[in-house]
Amino acid sequence: MKQHNIRLHPLGKELVVNDQTPLIDLLHEFGVEFPCGGRGTCGKCQVSLLKGKITVSEIHRRKLDHLHLPSNVRLACMSLCTESITLQVEQYDHLILADETNFEFMPERGFGVAVDLGTTTLVTQLVELNSARILAVETMLNPQVKYGADLISRIQAGLDGHSTEMTLLIRSAVGNMIRLMMEGAKQIPDKVILVGNTVMQMIFSGCDLTPLSCYPFQLENPGTKTFTASELDWDFPDGTKIEFYPSIGSFVGSDILAGIAATGLHRKEQYTALIDLGTNGEIVLGNRDHIICASTAAGPAFEGANLSMGMRAVTGAISSLRHDGKTIQSSVIGNTKPRGICGSALIDAAAILLEMGLIGDFGEIQSGENSILIDDPVRLTQKDIYEFLLAKAAIATGVTILAKNLGIETSGISEIYIAGGFGNYINLKHLLSTGMVETTGDKIHKMGNTALIGAKMFLFGKGELADEILGKTSHINLEAFPDFQDIYISKMILG
Ligand code: FES
Repeated sequence: MKQHNIRLHPLGKELVVNDQTPLIDLLHEFGVEFPCGGRGTCGKCQVSLLKGKITVSEIHRRKLDHLHLPSNVRLACMSLCTESITLQVEQYDHLILADETNFEFMPERGFGVAVDLGTTTLVTQLVELNSARILAVETMLNPQVKYGADLISRIQAGLDGHSTEMTLLIRSAVGNMIRLMMEGAKQIPDKVILVGNTVMQMIFSGCDLTPLSCYPFQLENPGTKTFTASELDWDFPDGTKIEFYPSIGSFVGSDILAGIAATGLHRKEQYTALIDLGTNGEIVLGNRDHIICASTAAGPAFEGANLSMGMRAVTGAISSLRHDGKTIQSSVIGNTKPRGICGSALIDAAAILLEMGLIGDFGEIQSGENSILIDDPVRLTQKDIYEFLLAKAAIATGVTILAKNLGIETSGISEIYIAGGFGNYINLKHLLSTGMVETTGDKIHKMGNTALIGAKMFLFGKGELADEILGKTSHINLEAFPDFQDIYISKMILG
């Protein structure tokens, strides 16, 4: 297969990709956000062509005209790599204002680093605080993945005596990423704000993981953790303020706190929900008066765990599926041979197989066989489809219980934001048709990496934004709700 060299400015990165690779696939790995989820409406994924060509489709042309963009500008979410190109990535040059995010800030002196410490991926951004301009970005795989892909394996590794090792690994990885950004931009940060789920917060901070391993899963001190550079063995002045932001509950971390900030739901009059289809499947529902949140057991299937050929949204993963009534067509990240299926395509598969009559309402394969071929060699087994059903029911149950707690119907939720590692690839229509999210198409929006957007917002001010959100947010345990079992069982059906 033909390959092309892609140079990204001002990052100075050079990548080799296969012919026809969508730009969204590679820029997503480098911290670029796609606020409208690639619908071509927000214009926030602009890239300028410094060298080479990107062919523009009819619909892409219409979107460019509509947004009145200069002739050398393209929307990354609608572009394919068909030759070697050099791109100026606008998001690294300008203030990031996610579509619906009211990202107001008071300009400050100096520089800050926002860190999204994900279970799988680490993303850091160096931000100029008087303009909110992004000067540098680094991403890498969380080196703790060698101790397992999900949170349970990380907790287990900690209990098995690998706690210190995991702490040192993650501190050194984040420190290196910050050093690389500092060298490139020749700036020293005045503050570093980290967000992540509770387990990541505990491991980074060197805390005991035992409370997260057994009932009542109660953390003693999930508050803000403050560090000096020398404590972390980071090579920059001790005057830099380094904070890991607080968790909201035992399994709802500061990544969700940041997500609330990014959606602005804490200031909305109407009830708004945030669903993070990441490792923990966290759900938030509320408005400017009161916010409640919970974690569900939905995550593993969407992260590819527990599926026979599941994988994360990386090269080789089938990221989306379509059908023409007879055959199924797939898109594979990196435009390469499929190696497995990631969360977004799992949702597509359930919706499409149901539409095509290949599975029934309870996910049962109609042919009587034990698996269905998706795109050779990737198959979905009966067990995989049931895993999806469990995950789907967990999300739908979570939203229903949170709504009941607030005394409203799910139809009373005015907007639902979807975030998560594979969020950019999600087909919202399929979230609705599988019944995972019970609302109408005009109320649901994709919202990229809300943890990173929120972490960036937390760089401004002295923590007032996080305090405002924490002051009105409470955490509930879904299983403790009296009708939990009945609701969960009633959601174990597609459609
Ligand atoms: S226009 Fe490309 S993500 Fe919105």
